[in-house]
Amino acid sequence: MSDANGYVPTPEPVANLAASTAFGAERPGHVGDDDRRGRLLLPGLGTGNLYDAVHRYCTNGDGWSTARKFDYPLPECVAVETNSELVDEFEAGHPDAEIDVHHADFLLDPPEGEFDWVLANPPFVCYQDIDAAKRDQYRERFRIAQGQFDMFVPFFEQSMRLLKPGGTLLFILPLPALLVPAFEPFRKELRDHFIEPIFYLPPETFAEKVETVMVGVEKQPHSRGHHLWLEALRGWESREILSGLGVDDVDDAVDRYYDEHAFTEEMLKWKDDRERRNQDGGRQSGLEAFTGGTSP
Ligand SMILES: C[S@@+](CC[C@H](N)C(=O)[O-])C[C@H]1O[C@@H](n2cnc3c(N)ncnc32)[C@H](O)[C@@H]1O
Repeated sequence: MSDANGYVPTPEPVANLAASTAFGAERPGHVGDDDRRGRLLLPGLGTGNLYDAVHRYCTNGDGWSTARKFDYPLPECVAVETNSELVDEFEAGHPDAEIDVHHADFLLDPPEGEFDWVLANPPFVCYQDIDAAKRDQYRERFRIAQGQFDMFVPFFEQSMRLLKPGGTLLFILPLPALLVPAFEPFRKELRDHFIEPIFYLPPETFAEKVETVMVGVEKQPHSRGHHLWLEALRGWESREILSGLGVDDVDDAVDRYYDEHAFTEEMLKWKDDRERRNQDGGRQSGLEAFTGGTSP
C-alpha cells in the first residue's frame, strides 16, 4: 500500500528483472579496463527489495534462475531513503548487508561521487501530495520539475546527474510518464539520451494494478532525440514474472499481457510520432485530445 512518500514494495520477480536488465552482460563487481569495483546507487531504498535482487544476481547459490545465477562480488552499494522507519526496517532485516545507507532526502541531499548504475522504483507521488515547501525547493533545483510534476520527475533528473557518462539507469515508472502531456519535459530529457529497453510490465505487478514500465537509459547524449517504443517481455520472462506474482491463471494472464502490450505500444507510437513532430511548433492540442487532457 502506498504512503505519503510513495512507498510501495517492488515485487521480487520484477526486482530480479530490474537487476538483470541493469547489469546486462556486465559483472558489477569488476568494471572497466582497470577492473575496478562498480558503484551502484539505490535511491528510495524502501525495505530493500532491489538491493536483495542485486544480491541474488551476484551471489552464487542464492539466485532465482539457473540461467542468471552468478558468483560475482557485489558492486559498491549506496542507498538513500527519507523514511526513518523504512531505514530501521531495512537495517534490522539486513544486519550484514554490504551497503552504505543514507537517511536523507535524495533530492536535497544527494550522496557524493558518480555511479555506474542507478536502480530505482522511485516514488510516484502526484504534485498535490508533495509537501508544498519541498515542492518549491524541488522546482528551484530541477530543470524538468515543471508544472504539475510528479516526484519521479526530479528523482530522474537527480539520478541522471549522479550517473557517470556511459552509466546505466533503470527505473520502474508509471505508464503515464510516457503518455501524459504534463510529463513532456521528462520525455524530452529521456529522448536526449540513449534509451535502452522500455519494457511494458504486467498490470498485475502492483496490487493497485497501476500500469507500469521499466525504462533503461544509458547516459550518452543523443542529439537527434530517440523515439520511445515499448518492448514486450520475452515469453519465458512474462510467464516467470506472472507466476512469481502468484496470479491464478498464468496462461490467461500471459495472453492478456501480450494483448495489453500490443494496444499500449500502438498508442505510444502514435503519440510519440505526434509529440516529436509537434515539438517545434509546440502544438499540444492533438495529444491532449487523445488523452482527454488527463493529468496523473
Ligand atoms: C516505490 S518505493 C521503493 C520501494 C523499494 N524498491 C522496495 O521494494 O522496498 C519509493 C521509496 O522512495 C522513498 N522516498 C520518497 N521520497 C524520497 C526522497 N525525497 N528521498 C529519498 N527517498 C524517498 C519512499 O519512502 C519509498 O521507500
